[in-house]
Amino acid sequence: MCGIVGYLGSKNAAGIIVDGLAKLEYRGYDSAGIAVNTGTELEIRKFKGRLAVLADDLEKNNIIGNVGIGHTRWATHGEPSDVNSHPHFNKDKTLAVVHNGIIENYLELREQLESEGIEFKSKTDTEVVAHLLDKYYEGNLLDAVYKTIGDLKGAYALGIVSAEHNDELIAVRKDSPLIAGVGEGEAFIASDIPALLKYTRDVIYLDNDEVVHIKGGNLKVYDSQRNPVDKKINHVDWDVEAAEKGGYSCFMEKEIFEQPEGIKSTLERRLNEEGRIVLDDINLDKEYLESVNKIYIVACGTAYNAGVLGKTAMQRMMGIPVTVDIASEFRYNENFVDDKSLVILVSQSGETADTLAVLRDSKEKGARILAVTNVVGSSIAREADDVFYTWAGPEIAVASTKAYTTQIVSLYMIALNCALEMGNIDDKYYFDMIEKMKEIPAKIQEVINNKDSIEHIADDIVKKEHAFFLGRGIDYSLAMEGSLKLKEISYIHAEAFAAGELKHGTIALIEEGTPVISIATQQSMFDKMVSNMEEVRARGAYVVAISQSHNKEVEKVSNKVIYIPDSEDLLSPIIAVVPMQLLALMVSTKRGLDVDKPRNLAKSVTVE
Ligand code: G6P
Repeated sequence: MCGIVGYLGSKNAAGIIVDGLAKLEYRGYDSAGIAVNTGTELEIRKFKGRLAVLADDLEKNNIIGNVGIGHTRWATHGEPSDVNSHPHFNKDKTLAVVHNGIIENYLELREQLESEGIEFKSKTDTEVVAHLLDKYYEGNLLDAVYKTIGDLKGAYALGIVSAEHNDELIAVRKDSPLIAGVGEGEAFIASDIPALLKYTRDVIYLDNDEVVHIKGGNLKVYDSQRNPVDKKINHVDWDVEAAEKGGYSCFMEKEIFEQPEGIKSTLERRLNEEGRIVLDDINLDKEYLESVNKIYIVACGTAYNAGVLGKTAMQRMMGIPVTVDIASEFRYNENFVDDKSLVILVSQSGETADTLAVLRDSKEKGARILAVTNVVGSSIAREADDVFYTWAGPEIAVASTKAYTTQIVSLYMIALNCALEMGNIDDKYYFDMIEKMKEIPAKIQEVINNKDSIEHIADDIVKKEHAFFLGRGIDYSLAMEGSLKLKEISYIHAEAFAAGELKHGTIALIEEGTPVISIATQQSMFDKMVSNMEEVRARGAYVVAISQSHNKEVEKVSNKVIYIPDSEDLLSPIIAVVPMQLLALMVSTKRGLDVDKPRNLAKSVTVE
């Protein structure tokens, strides 16, 4: 949540910062602001609304200066408004700060500062940081920063500039993502890599409690005790194009279309010439697996929905119980994790606060942590014992699409490998499944090519207020993802129900014309699903069936049918989710909404 960019060098800072913020808008977009040292003072501009409001203002009247910080906000404390936007500053406007995270003890600090005569302008937690810096500042900015962070509790990535130091930029990282970038005589800070790609590919991944001190052309990193830390510079070889829209109407559309390539790359990165899954770098051998008494999959949002399918695959293939939990619940419940547990964390960003907290807590309890993540060098990737990267390429749209399908493929690959190690499946099943997984990209492409057939369904749904998604077994897990996609970007109230539970209450909600997206891809449950579709149709529902092309019976019990190519039961959700992604995209577009930046949401949830 919230994006931070900072620059110090010989170029004009404002343009570089706004450019970087544009790549971070997925993190929050309710307001944006910038502070630049003009040589004599700090000039601060900040506005409620999208980054475009700030960019327009700068276009009319740019700020000239070589060092600055910027912020795009997802409000936690205080409503989105000009005054609550970052940067926040001290009373003389000589110190400015941008912040991502939550200062948990801000009320206490605010009361203390107010009792010392400080007047607060905003309702944010961040403003205390600016006033603390002011309180401790005696000419040395780094001294003031260390004293300030000594008072702070919570999670924070901070960027700090001062009016008195035209060649200095300081950043701090604690439990909120932050990287530094190094260029020729210039340096950057940012919440995420895409912000820097246009300017540098040499990045430093900061660890918790580290402070970056950029002075002149030099960048130094210190630990919490102010000892210098020797950091590795990593070269990022991402394709810049991959982080751009490239002709698509929005990132979500691009990312839906990228799924065939994404899945190919998830598979190819881990398959050797014989077609075997290679997990040499991951400790999942027979001896280890035999010592494990419990497997937990833990995640949030779409990653959780992928985890539910991962659980089904693991249980079926490995023949052992696996639990799947939402990270924000898991961490506060009695979870029984111990040194014989394998905890698999699924996270696109690798930065989600609750998932990261589960990682740290489980590690402390002695569990082994396997991360399934998309972002190389993310906190979860760095702190886990083992990492299975999904290699989906950057996902920018808030609504996750290619991360979901590649996460499922990754979890299935892990399941297959473990099941083979444990002797629970034979070579034939193993190779058959791998071959069938290799066919998924082409099958998804087929669904994408037929996307026009979904358009008229979107027309029928666009004006509705409610929609339901039904499924049984793994189709129910898929219904959860389908309803999440629709609600998050179209604002239609959408819910998923296990079709078998219909008669225990839900069916009371069905009235004339209520859209019910009914997923029937599981052969073993097919007849039962058809009965459920009949039941809702008889009560006036507008039934959209999603099923394989040979299941023509669904036509009798539905208003519209979306056919997907035939596939193995376990694999069909990876294909069947695509029409639901497209449907959500079309409905949102037809409603005239900003598909990539749905209201109140952010892509990376780095606060609890
Ligand atoms: C947010 C995003 C979702 C994502 C979830 C978990 O809610 O909008 O798309 O699924 O966070 O994020 P993660 O990065 O941990 O997968």
